[in-house]
Amino acid sequence: MLTDAVTPEDLRHAMGHFATGVTVITARDAAGAPVGTTANAVTSLSLDPPLILACFARESLTLAHVREHGAFAVNVLASHHADASTAFAKRGAAEAWQLVEHRDGRTNSPRVHDAIAVLDCVVEQRLPGGDHEILIGRVVDVEAAGGAPLVYWRGAYANLERAA
Ligand SMILES: Cc1cc2nc3c(=O)[nH]c(=O)nc-3n(C[C@H](O)[C@H](O)[C@H](O)COP(=O)(O)O)c2cc1C
Repeated sequence: MLTDAVTPEDLRHAMGHFATGVTVITARDAAGAPVGTTANAVTSLSLDPPLILACFARESLTLAHVREHGAFAVNVLASHHADASTAFAKRGAAEAWQLVEHRDGRTNSPRVHDAIAVLDCVVEQRLPGGDHEILIGRVVDVEAAGGAPLVYWRGAYANLERAA
C-alpha cells in the first residue's frame, strides 16, 4: 500500500512544520484530584452548535479520566508557560500542578491560572482515530484573557514576540 511508505517519524517530522499553540487539557480523577496533559492536537469544529475536538493517544491517562469525568477544559497556554507545558507532557503529571495555580471552571475541570483562553467542554462524542481517540467537546463556557501564546513548531517552543 502506498501509505506504508510513511513512517511515524516521517509524519511527525512533516506535521512538525505546522506551527500550533499549546494547551493543557484538564479534568478531575475519580477522587477529585486535578489531572491534565499537554496537547496541541486541538481544533475548532463547529460554531453552531459550539464544538471543538481534541485527539488523545489511546493510552493517555488523562483520556481515561476525561471519559470518566465526562468533561474537560482546554487551557491555551501563554508564552511564559513552556516549563509547565514540559511538566504536563509527562505521563500522570501530578507534579506539574505545583508549577501552576488553578481554579475550577464550569465543568469542575481545573482552569490554569494565566492561560490566555479556556474552553470548558462536556464530552459530546468519542470517535476512533487510529492509535488516537478523537473527543468532540461541546463548549459550555469560554474565557479569553488575551496575551501572547506559547507556540510549538518543529519540536520546540517558540514565541510570536509581539503584543497579542
Ligand atoms: C507540545 C506537545 C503537544 C502534545 N500534544 C498531544 C496531543 O495533542 N495529544 C496527546 O495524546 N498527547 C500529546 N502530547 C503528549 C502527551 O502530553 C504525553 O504523552 C503525556 O505523557 C500524556 O500523559 P497522560 O498519559 O498522563 O495523559 C503532546 C506533548 C507535547 C510536548
